Amino acid sequence: MCGIVGAVSTRNIVPVLVQGLERLEYRGYDSCGVAVYAMGTDLAHSGLRRARSTSRVAELAEQVAPDSVSGGLQGCLGIAHTRWATHGAPSVSNAHPHFSHGRGSDAHQRPGRIALVHNGIIENHDELRAELQTKGYVFVSQTDTEVIAHLVDSLYADDLLEAVQAAVDQLHGAFAIAVFCKDEPQRLVGARAGSPLILGVGKDGQEHFLASDAMALAGVTDQIVYLEEGDMVDVQLGKYWLLDKARKSVSPAQRPVKTVLAHSGAAELGPYRHYMQKEIFEQPRAIADTLEGLEGIVPELFDLQMNHAPGANAARVFAEIDSVLILACGTSYYSGCTAKYWLESIAKIPTQVEVASEYRYRDSVPNPKTLVVTITQSGETADTLAALRHAQSLGMRHTLTICNVATSAMVRECSLAYVTRAGVEIGVASTKAFTTQLAGLFLMTLALAQAKGRLPEDAEQRHLKAMRHLPAALQAVLALEPLIISWAEDFARKENALFLGRGLHYPIAMEGALKLKEITYIHAEAYPAGELKHGPLALVTSEMPVVIVAPNDTLLEKLKSNMHEVRARGGVLYVLADADSRIESGDGIHVIRMPEHYGELSPLLHVVPLQLLAYHTACARGTDVDKPRNLAKSVTVE
Ligand code: M6R
Repeated sequence: MCGIVGAVSTRNIVPVLVQGLERLEYRGYDSCGVAVYAMGTDLAHSGLRRARSTSRVAELAEQVAPDSVSGGLQGCLGIAHTRWATHGAPSVSNAHPHFSHGRGSDAHQRPGRIALVHNGIIENHDELRAELQTKGYVFVSQTDTEVIAHLVDSLYADDLLEAVQAAVDQLHGAFAIAVFCKDEPQRLVGARAGSPLILGVGKDGQEHFLASDAMALAGVTDQIVYLEEGDMVDVQLGKYWLLDKARKSVSPAQRPVKTVLAHSGAAELGPYRHYMQKEIFEQPRAIADTLEGLEGIVPELFDLQMNHAPGANAARVFAEIDSVLILACGTSYYSGCTAKYWLESIAKIPTQVEVASEYRYRDSVPNPKTLVVTITQSGETADTLAALRHAQSLGMRHTLTICNVATSAMVRECSLAYVTRAGVEIGVASTKAFTTQLAGLFLMTLALAQAKGRLPEDAEQRHLKAMRHLPAALQAVLALEPLIISWAEDFARKENALFLGRGLHYPIAMEGALKLKEITYIHAEAYPAGELKHGPLALVTSEMPVVIVAPNDTLLEKLKSNMHEVRARGGVLYVLADADSRIESGDGIHVIRMPEHYGELSPLLHVVPLQLLAYHTACARGTDVDKPRNLAKSVTVE
């Protein structure tokens, strides 16, 4: 989703801005651009200048290079952006940065003075546009962002911070913006309300940066200040000034500079063809890191954050709650669905799992004794954050997040947290984030079971042993890759697929179907196998591959009946069977046997062949695996 980079320096910052955009590419985008204040006596090349592209950042880099036909772009003050289209198609005129124009009918042909990039959605853009048009502003894009540029221009007297502040007060919606004005060539103003924005403090505190996340600044600075909701920042050469949502000055102690490990190394592909493949193969390491130092089940594992709920601690919260409400989107939602089975069977705690974008808008019956659990890789997903805030507004104050980014808004806003250590996930299709979430959720289940007196010592030891063995078990599953590749060759020729599972593995079937549709564009649906004859069986023909997630659990015999139902209609079965289940390959049945039977933790293993199946099918179809069409990595707008 949209990414922002901005810089004020004494050196030419265009290479830094473009490199920042490259580092933000993983979020997903369909156009990009950079704008600078160019100094010089040559009128044609001084003032506000920009380059925009509907191609990749690499193409933008060529446009702005000093040896390009246009002479490139240079400046010490600038902003850059990757856009994921919401208002208006992906086109050069809709790409950011947007400039304000002077007023009058030919205004759009004259260079303006405000340059702006924006992440988020302005809900009242129609009203604002109409008002600005009556003042003579001419709009040249279909975006909500151009409205902000003109609005700032209309409010500008001689102080950019004042103008941005007055503009922000009129905006409804969620946004992060970075703005500069050609009349103040050493100043950049940023504002955050609902979308992420950070400040980077550069070498000797002289140059400063704005960005959507710390990764954009990897290799440039690791000194990061996280802006909070409603904050504004006035960034200048050698100094910066922060204001909170009440427009009060914020002290350095309130928003400390944090040293954030630069992620540049993690972004290297190494021997892999795609980030998704790399991330699938990183899962043994990611699980080992996530569980590192785990000696026993104690509630303190979840006590990482208490900043928003003084006095809250996991031991007290776990003892007090009587139910769990899980809120998440996409793959994270499926990990929540898996956790529901664990929470109800092991901890015996009633659990509800809701798609965050639905929960936030429906009437529900709040229970103050509910533990609200959000699950999110990025920690910045707008729907999940909004759902959390909605639950809090209903009086549910016990909040816990399972999140992969320690510095994210979600970790800051929940009172308890378990931060997974998957490492940076670049591929839009989530893989290692999912399995590490499952590990965190299983630990949470055990901690809750213990708090309720439902975890006997021998069960705790058995579960801990199984968790410690997970990296090795995952490694053995990854060794199945050549067998999965042969399945992928069949799938690459199909346009539809069904995924079936039962119980704990129904969410794994859903995750397998999501992976396949996201990156191969094959229509895939998942059903609990028992539902087959209630409708989807009508779809089954010899053209329909049906993936069966078939661990050797109490539902296996029932699942076998469902398999017969498919075979009887000519459907071709692709079965992930357990080591010890007696299902054999045969006519219309392809079986891959999992290396070992893994009981309650089996979902963490069974999902891996499904990730590989999606990955290799996508490779065979030649799709853009890491950046599938229309999708963004970090969904920071509603
Ligand atoms: O960062 P989050 O975990 O909150 O993201 C939620 C979904 O957007 C995400 O899981 C999405 O479904 C992935 N592309 C799935 O592969």
